[in-house]
Amino acid sequence: MALTGLGLVVYVVFHMLGNLQLFEGPHALNSYAAFLRDMPILLWAARIGLLSMAGLHIGLALQLSIRNYRARPLEYTIHRYRQASIASRTMAISGMALLLFVGFHLLHLTAGVIDPAFADRRDLEGYRDVYGKVVHAFQNPFMVTLYLAGQLGLGLHLSHAIASSVQTMGFEHAALNRLLKSLGPVIGVIVVLGNVAIILAVFLGLVR
Ligand code: HEM
Repeated sequence: MALTGLGLVVYVVFHMLGNLQLFEGPHALNSYAAFLRDMPILLWAARIGLLSMAGLHIGLALQLSIRNYRARPLEYTIHRYRQASIASRTMAISGMALLLFVGFHLLHLTAGVIDPAFADRRDLEGYRDVYGKVVHAFQNPFMVTLYLAGQLGLGLHLSHAIASSVQTMGFEHAALNRLLKSLGPVIGVIVVLGNVAIILAVFLGLVR
């Protein structure tokens, strides 16, 4: 779980960095999207890798939850958490929210099923108009709400997941523990802020 989780984190960070090119205008984002699509073998290798990592991650999470439940089928009468953060206690919920969000996101921006108006549109240079698609999406308050909710799930999940993976893989050192523990929340906040900046910049009319 730790390894597949970290692989997915790397994707989410690079995806956010790539999407920030929206702030450079249509040419930057559309030519970047075309660059990624122009290498079908690499694109499909990355997609299959991503899908396998996500599948393994979810499968192992389910297996772990079942083992956890079987180890103590009776609920504790009193729950008193000493150290567990909200993020760590809600991993299953934030994970499921994230899965729902990604499913919706793929149908929306990748497959163009949810809002087909912009699915195959081209810009003036003949590139697929990914910029137009994103701007069109976040001018809609319903989409803005859904995507912001997705970022909440993402932020919560990342803030516990990264520190937990690092610990699972045995990276622990008395002098570095505080730094390693803050890695998750810091990366989580950076990714969420990057994504929220995109959503709100369009919604507030700063990017059109
Ligand atoms: C504001 C936030 C986000 C924006 C603006 C955004 C934008 C996009 C766009 C425009 C595409 C389609 C690219 C194309 O048609 O060439 C895409 C695909 C995708 N996004 Fe996002 N995304 C966001 C957040 C996320 C998050 C949080 C995740 C994962 C947790 C994610 C996962 C994916 C995946 C898996 C694909 C499919 C990539 C492929 O075509 O193989 N996205 N995103």
